[in-house]
Amino acid sequence: MSEPFEAVKVSEHVYWVGAIDWGITDFHGYSTKRGSTYNAYLIVADDIILIDTVKAPFKAELLSRISSVTDPKNIRYIISNHSEMDHSGSLPGVIAEVQPETVFASPKGVEALGAHFHMDTEIVPVKDSNELKLGGLSLKCFETRMLHWPDSMITYVPEDKLLFSQDGFGMHLAASDRFADEIPESKILEEGTKYYANILLPYSPLILKLLERVAGLGVEIDVICPDHGPIWREDLGKILGLYEQWAKQEPTDKVVIVYDTMWGSTDMMARAISEGAEAEGSKVEVMSLKSHDRSEVVTELLDAGALVVGTPTINNGMFPTVADVLTYIKGLKPKNLIGAAFGSYGWSGQGSKLVNSMLEEIKVELVSEPVAAKYVPTDADLLEFRALGSTVAKRLKEVVQGGR
Ligand code: FEO
Repeated sequence: MSEPFEAVKVSEHVYWVGAIDWGITDFHGYSTKRGSTYNAYLIVADDIILIDTVKAPFKAELLSRISSVTDPKNIRYIISNHSEMDHSGSLPGVIAEVQPETVFASPKGVEALGAHFHMDTEIVPVKDSNELKLGGLSLKCFETRMLHWPDSMITYVPEDKLLFSQDGFGMHLAASDRFADEIPESKILEEGTKYYANILLPYSPLILKLLERVAGLGVEIDVICPDHGPIWREDLGKILGLYEQWAKQEPTDKVVIVYDTMWGSTDMMARAISEGAEAEGSKVEVMSLKSHDRSEVVTELLDAGALVVGTPTINNGMFPTVADVLTYIKGLKPKNLIGAAFGSYGWSGQGSKLVNSMLEEIKVELVSEPVAAKYVPTDADLLEFRALGSTVAKRLKEVVQGGR
């Protein structure tokens, strides 16, 4: 059957039938400069089973890819692994069109889909570790609560040694290639790191438990099919190892200095702090919020050991861009960071103190009181900022060597 969009065969029974969103630049506050994909999969066995759907505006693309394999009306079962709208937005429309016999979701997924769509369709709950004997296959479902929502689950197909990992092991990357081994490794690493930092970071302890649990199941996995970005079919140990490394959040000797500036003073301070930290042997990433967004900052923070944040004082507060990035970082709950606040002021001097309070809320170990200078820093002031960089780097060295 000729269709504008075609399915891609993944394994003996599985086809990719998702959608490519080349134009998305913002995914709930996360900058997605390389677009994304919403991956759905079709299992073609004795029965036809659809795993997840796609974001609502892409329903026609999903149905077209399915139609390149079979008439969508042949779908007998749908398994919804995750109710967030990027994977369930098309579900009511697909149900209406396909009229499947049964739709499955985790118990929390049943609740979440009900609260999203208020449908008449009954959704059948699948409990953790339950096996669904469908189409001659034995699909095993595991609840993965909070990865990335309470309703999340993953589904394993033993016959194909294939795991539908939902948001896990995904990335926001639109590409014409479907498999990770077909895409330059640097791009995969960059976007995979960014995705982990911006989506999965707060759930790192759960990731470690999940990795342990999957290893303990003793099942073979040849293919990992996430709900975003490319499919993994080669060297799976590498991505699993990276997840373990990211989830552990062990600090390195990298210092991230994040700041914004009004008339250039805070910029001068950031550069002096950088010099001080570099002179002690730290690697330093200086990130002006005029050229870096919150998602890039969090990505750099993933393997850092120190976060130093600077702000001018404006209307007795911190700069709006600095407040934005700190609010975002706080929600992502990074661990094992040391740091400090700095900044400039004209009269009230509140900016760096407020940054300091936010760093405390983020549970950053502060190595100093906030360091601030009035209007434009003198050379003597800049030496103080350089000394702050040196203090951060020295403490970081102790932490990295196990002296926390
Ligand atoms: Fe890709 Fe949590 O949705």
